[in-house]
Amino acid sequence: MAAVQEPTQALTPERIMQVGLGFWQSKVLLSAVGLGLFTVLAGEPQDGEALRARLGLHERGARDFFDALVALGFLKRDDDGVYSNAADVELFLDREKPSYIGGLLEMADVRLYRFWDSLTEGLQTGKQQNEAKGGDDFFGALYADPARLAAFMHAMSGLSMGGAHAIAAKFPWERHTSFADIGCAEGGLAVTLAQTHPHLRGVGFDLPPVAPLFDRYAAEHSLSDRLAFQPGDMFTDPFPRADVVTIGHILHDWSLTQRKELLRKAHDAVPEGGGVIVFEAIIDDERRKNAFGLLMSLNMLIETPEGSDYTGADCRRWMEEVGFRETYVEHLAGPDSMVVGLK
Ligand SMILES: C[S@@+](CC[C@H](N)C(=O)[O-])C[C@H]1O[C@@H](n2cnc3c(N)ncnc32)[C@H](O)[C@@H]1O
Repeated sequence: MAAVQEPTQALTPERIMQVGLGFWQSKVLLSAVGLGLFTVLAGEPQDGEALRARLGLHERGARDFFDALVALGFLKRDDDGVYSNAADVELFLDREKPSYIGGLLEMADVRLYRFWDSLTEGLQTGKQQNEAKGGDDFFGALYADPARLAAFMHAMSGLSMGGAHAIAAKFPWERHTSFADIGCAEGGLAVTLAQTHPHLRGVGFDLPPVAPLFDRYAAEHSLSDRLAFQPGDMFTDPFPRADVVTIGHILHDWSLTQRKELLRKAHDAVPEGGGVIVFEAIIDDERRKNAFGLLMSLNMLIETPEGSDYTGADCRRWMEEVGFRETYVEHLAGPDSMVVGLK
């Protein structure tokens, strides 16, 4: 009779169940953000009944909702039953603070959550699964509504801030005097680079409706003398000329042909000795580790007709194809890395 091999480690189904039902936690957090719960509690802890009344919730689920947030670590509850925000939540999820990053989570609550329900269909058809499926134009509507556009652009700054500080620290900016940020949004990266390196001048390039947001953000940081906005379409207009072109969270939106076209335009815009910096959740070359990058790529399946995320080796190859002589990948922060091409 064959000997039964003892497993060296006891297997449990915990991890499988945690991920499989991970949408429970995700939706609890997204609903809390969408309801503005953390903004209500910011600096104003309150008991469950006051909180329930303030948010207009039914009695049945409110207590479980609040205490689930306690168990997940997003809220604290004291011995008198008074709820308050956890420290990171107080900083990042209070809409009234400039450090608010909930814009993206609000978008996840009202849009992405339901579109991800069609992931299987996206995998079977290769077709995007967002508003475009029903003939609606989310981005058209976004650009037509200044308040929503401002919230979205500000959310991009929050999301890109860790990467922006790392780019300011890790790239040899002392060798260059100017940069152009393509698809700059309100200017999170541009402001960070100009603040960190007083010798740098920069141009933010984006679609025309973004102009007032960029100008206001630069002025708020007293950088209007060194930062300028240039309106344009990155596919039909030339890029602004600069020593270094930066392109963040853009290439994954587009087809392979369009990505190479953008890199070719970046190559044209910089002088010999200049360079391009591409940054986003670059997937590791083995495609084994950067789970966020791989999930972001599936998000691009949901959101775009031909977009996907890519490895550092992929991006270096495209850069070399369009003429950059030296390329390298460097980790920035969290899931983000930069791919640098030098001309
Ligand atoms: C995902 S955001 C990235 C923002 C920023 N680079 C960052 O990393 O946080 C994409 C940006 O590309 C801009 N954009 C989209 N299509 C564009 C086009 N055809 N020409 C110029 N900018 C465009 C959007 O307005 C938006 O600001």
